[in-house]
Amino acid sequence: MKFEQDHRETLFSIIKSRRDVRGNRFIDKKIPKDILNKILLSANHAPSVGFSQPWRFVIIENKKTKNQIFKDFKKENNKAKKIFKDSKIYSSLKLEGIKEADLNIAVLYKKPKKDILGQTSQRKMGEYSTVCAIQNMWLTARSFNIGMGWISILKPKKVKKIIGLTKTQRDEYKLIGYFSLGYVDKFYEKPELEKLKWENKKSLNEVILNWE
Ligand SMILES: Cc1cc2nc3c(=O)[nH]c(=O)nc-3n(C[C@H](O)[C@H](O)[C@H](O)COP(=O)(O)O)c2cc1C
Repeated sequence: MKFEQDHRETLFSIIKSRRDVRGNRFIDKKIPKDILNKILLSANHAPSVGFSQPWRFVIIENKKTKNQIFKDFKKENNKAKKIFKDSKIYSSLKLEGIKEADLNIAVLYKKPKKDILGQTSQRKMGEYSTVCAIQNMWLTARSFNIGMGWISILKPKKVKKIIGLTKTQRDEYKLIGYFSLGYVDKFYEKPELEKLKWENKKSLNEVILNWE
């Protein structure tokens, strides 16, 4: 397939308008199954080291499970609040949307049982491949006007138990990310942390270290 200028523009505008969405923006509307399938399918088309496709997904719709995950977030965030105690805004930040989102997805990495082509010198390549799958999900969700948020203020060990992995599965899988997904009332034009002046957006010049 040969792509044209309008495809490129659409792709770039999806990339640029993707946002991390938290609980202050999710609305009460179900994500249809066929759309969820498309989001997962796009994750499953990500590149992976040695074509290992090491990503695995757990979809969480159950309120009880969400509540338990939220409890762990609260606990972990109370610890984080102490670390950022000098910041005026940290404790006012909404840093998750666990309960407000229609669904949550845990993305896991299946640790290999044999050597993987390309992963012999750098052992984390499988985990990086899983992050590629996550980015595919994030962009595809945005193309359906569905918001997605990454919630990392959680204890992976606890999350794996709460989402129902058996002891063997907990040893076999590493939690890479925990996400909330749902329709939103609006997408911000800029990252929330930029709007709140927590961080500035870096220019291309600032991120290119060297160009020889
Ligand atoms: C690995 C990773 C972990 C993140 N964890 C959190 C989190 O725990 N809570 C949160 O509110 N945002 C989290 N974010 C979202 C970032 O804050 C967000 O991507 C960044 O501020 C830029 O905003 P944007 O995604 O809307 O462009 C995470 C993002 C990444 C890539």
